[in-house]
Formats: sequence, C-alpha cells, structure tokens
Amino acid sequence: MKDKLLIIGASGHGKVIADIALQMNRWNTILFLDDNERVKRAMGLDVIGKTKDVDKFIADYDIFIGIGNNQIREKLQNQLKASQATIPTLIHPSAVIGSKVAIGQGTAVMAGAVINCCSKIGDGCIVNTGATIDHDNCIEDYVHISPGVNIAGSVKVGRSSWLGIGSKVSNNIDITSNCIIGAGGVVVQDIYESGTYVGVPVKKI
Ligand SMILES: CC(C)(COP(=O)(O)OP(=O)(O)OC[C@H]1O[C@@H](n2cnc3c(N)ncnc32)[C@H](O)[C@@H]1OP(=O)(O)O)[C@@H](O)C(=O)NCCC(=O)NCCS
Repeated sequence: MKDKLLIIGASGHGKVIADIALQMNRWNTILFLDDNERVKRAMGLDVIGKTKDVDKFIADYDIFIGIGNNQIREKLQNQLKASQATIPTLIHPSAVIGSKVAIGQGTAVMAGAVINCCSKIGDGCIVNTGATIDHDNCIEDYVHISPGVNIAGSVKVGRSSWLGIGSKVSNNIDITSNCIIGAGGVVVQDIYESGTYVGVPVKKI
C-alpha cells in the first residue's frame, strides 16, 4: 500500500470513488486520470493525465479504476495486474461488512451497503450505495450491484453481470455471467443464459 492514490475516471462514478477514498483517510494524495481533456479537476482533486499515462504512476501510486462499465473496468484492471500495480479495495466507512467476508482487489463498497457473513465478493466489483448482499453469496469478478439492490442468502452472481438499481434476487439463485437485470427486476429462478432480463419476475428481452 502506497501513500498516494490515482483514480482512473473522473466522471460520476469516479467522483464517488474519490469520495470513499477521502473518507477512508488513508492516502496523503489523491489524483485522477481522465481521457476527457476538458476535465481538469473533480471533487477538488487534479486530473493529471490520460489513461494511457498510467504506467508512469504505478511505482508511486495505488491505482483504482473509477469506471462503471464492467467490461472496460475488467480490461483496464487486467492491464494493471499485468503491470504489477497495487490495486486497493475501497470500503466506505458507513458500509457494514460481516464476519468471514472476502472482498477482492479493485472492488468498491459504497455508502450504506451491507455485506453479510460468509459472502465472497470478487475483484473489480461495485457494491453500490445502500445495496444489501446477504450471507453465503458468491459475487464473481467485475459484477456491478447497483444502488438499493437486495440479494438474499446463498446467491451466486456470475462474472461481469450487472444488477440494475433496486433489483432483488431471491435466495439460492444462480445468475450466470454477462447478465443485465433491469431496474426494479425481481429474480426468483436461476438464469442460465447471458442476456438482459426485466420485470417482476424477470423475463429475457
Ligand atoms: C434493462 C435496461 C438495461 C434495458 O435497456 P435497453 O437495452 O436500452 O432497453 P430499452 O430501454 O430499449 O427497453 C426495451 C424494452 O424493455 C422495457 N424495459 C427496459 N427496462 C426495463 C425495466 N427495468 N423494467 C421493465 N421493463 C423494462 C422497455 O420498456 C422496453 O419495452 P417495449 O419494447 O415494450 O417498449 C435498462 O432499462 C435498465 O433497467 N437499466 C438499469 C439502469 C440502472 O440500474 N442504473 C443504475 C446505475 S448505478
């Protein structure tokens, strides 16, 4: 762990990431990279370059990807891992994390989220504002659990899936990789096929 943090992405999601990092009070310096040349500062922090510049900072900075898109986040995080970057885990001080919970590198747990005991959250995930993940869940790498999602016990969510805002997953459900669950959707049966699912209960569209 280094005393400086560089966040890739200074838009809405990146700003929330910076806010968590500031509240964690672990880094003396926090800066951004962003590919939009017009963005010079965000959250009162400087933007010091573009994504392609990241290699220059790997020796001195922890690096965190503040990009909401699961596929882009995965691609960049794989590049960072190959370059031996230090990738922290960010957990907002107001999040509640149960016993025997494992949370991977590059994952952000946002304000008011609850992760109950014996759950495993992979690398590069987003557990967004006020989401609840109950006991014995397995959330694979690069999953985004949107604000206000509720996941019951013993659920598995496959790699790169995105659970939309306010969606709910009943207990003992498996959702395969690369699924999108629409805003407000309710999942009550296993989902075996990647795709977009909406409604109550969800149906594939
Ligand atoms: C599911 C979703 C990704 C679909 O987006 P899309 O592929 O652009 O789909 P469209 O908007 O063209 O909608 C296709 C159909 O599904 C319906 N639909 C879309 N989202 C729906 C939802 N959440 N619940 C119910 N129906 C939905 C639309 O009404 C439309 O129906 P129609 O064909 O009868 O008119 C999107 O609507 C959604 O729910 N996104 C989640 C956003 C979110 O959680 N943001 C938080 C980020 S932190």
